[in-house]
Amino acid sequence: MNTHVVDHPLAAVLLTTMRDARSDNAIFRGALRRLTHMLVYEAMREAPVATFDVVTPVAVANGVRLAQPPLLVPVLRAGLGMVEQASSLIPQARVGFVGMARDEETHRPVPYLESLPEDLSGMPVFVLDPMLATGGSMVYTIDLLVARGATDVTAVCVVAAPEGVAALQESGHPVRLVTAAVDEGLNEDAFIVPGLGDAGDRQFGPR
Ligand code: PRP
Repeated sequence: MNTHVVDHPLAAVLLTTMRDARSDNAIFRGALRRLTHMLVYEAMREAPVATFDVVTPVAVANGVRLAQPPLLVPVLRAGLGMVEQASSLIPQARVGFVGMARDEETHRPVPYLESLPEDLSGMPVFVLDPMLATGGSMVYTIDLLVARGATDVTAVCVVAAPEGVAALQESGHPVRLVTAAVDEGLNEDAFIVPGLGDAGDRQFGPR
């Protein structure tokens, strides 16, 4: 599996704001929005384009458009804070939704929403979730996508634990990871260390 860590000073500054426990909900959401811009920008670097002639006020120039805009799939709740920025970068993108919450005891994902196009064959998919902890939520989401024919999935995350990266690798799914950081690991509550806390709670308040 290909893991791309977006290593850029502007991304590192925004990640610092998100890590900082003093950042309130509004500041956290703003930093997530801006960091999503950078992550999606990097995730689109190899996106195929189709060319066409565009007429400038002076002459004809080579123009491009995206050949295949990805389907964006925010994983609720925390991924909601990424979707508006991703859509504004890729206005042609369709959006699907998956909702799940981790069981606090078992740390396994409990799904409660699935709203996806039936047929994803030939369609790149970007899964948006700020956190890849055990990887259970991401692997569950990619299972759903692959069952619909997806063969080209990108997980766009803010922080990942090595355990989550390994889970993605072991899933055998066609996935690559774009993230701002791979952290040290998980604690006994399956929280990423040092991480940024619970990205859902930090955007929207506790459930
Ligand atoms: C968090 C996070 C991921 C998941 C990661 O969501 O946003 O979806 O946990 O953990 P995993 O890799 O171990 O599955 P949470 O369950 O807290 O729900 P929320 O987004 O509604 O806050």
